[in-house]
Amino acid sequence: MIIVKTIKEVREKVKEWRDAGLSVGLVPTMGYLHEGHASLIKTSSSANDRTVVSVFVNPIQFGPGEDLESYPRDIEHDSEIAQTAGADLIFNPEPEEMYLDNFSTFVDMTGLTEELCGLSRPGHFRGVCTVVTKLFNIVKPDRAYFGKKDAQQLAVIRHMVQDLNVDIEVVGCPIVREEDGLAKSSRNTYLSHEERKAAVVLSKSINAGKELVKSGEKDAGIILAKMQEIIEAEPLAKIDYIKMVDADTIKQTKTIEAPAICAMAVYIGKTRLIDNFFTEDA
Ligand code: PAJ
Repeated sequence: MIIVKTIKEVREKVKEWRDAGLSVGLVPTMGYLHEGHASLIKTSSSANDRTVVSVFVNPIQFGPGEDLESYPRDIEHDSEIAQTAGADLIFNPEPEEMYLDNFSTFVDMTGLTEELCGLSRPGHFRGVCTVVTKLFNIVKPDRAYFGKKDAQQLAVIRHMVQDLNVDIEVVGCPIVREEDGLAKSSRNTYLSHEERKAAVVLSKSINAGKELVKSGEKDAGIILAKMQEIIEAEPLAKIDYIKMVDADTIKQTKTIEAPAICAMAVYIGKTRLIDNFFTEDA
């Protein structure tokens, strides 16, 4: 596995692979890799001849006062995890490599980005869509891998690929969890010992919601009320949002008729964590 920092080097390597007739998978990440990222890399390397992992803390998807500066970084650990999971190349550019001084073109989606995290984090998906488009253009993979952990992001990327006729297959991968159920996240490192214990309410609430869906409950209000009750019983938890949305349009739904996503963002202390389930997977 090699680590490169420039767009030129990525292009040269990918061209070499292409000339040899090899297929290429891309796993975009912001680094501080854990088993969630590793599962995406493994899935890519089992379906493609070569896998590129990008490790880039994308400044333009962070809002003012968010954790851009404190976002955890550890490229050595990342390269161990990526290599073990089957990556062939890590692309780890500096912000200046991705955004020249005169950078002024953005990919801005309406509709799907106006709910959930898009509401709480204005400009976030503009930053995500822009960097993912750039990574798609730099690597030109056959397939790109995204986690269901970021359910709205996955829907947004699928929609962007459709809208802009991007010739890349977007593959959604299941959420990887800690033993107690907490969804793996680079941001879990922010949690104190006490907060880490409290954070289990997210997955507890997700499991309760899943059970209701499994039992045939279609009324989103009933499902969300039960889930909310579980979170509110934890003094360290504060709900940012908890909603049932259509899986394609990300518009709120009162009744589950089409595939839906039940998604939440919850503050545990100062740390904002997200979790969700797809009703189809319940
Ligand atoms: P990041 O948060 O590093 O996540 C990279 C990818 O790993 C995303 O597709 C995310 O959904 C997936 N992932 C994270 N935790 C996971 C888990 N517990 N189980 C399964 N998959 C998980 O998402 C981003 O970075 C950025 O927004 C990015 C797409 C790289 C653009 O900057």
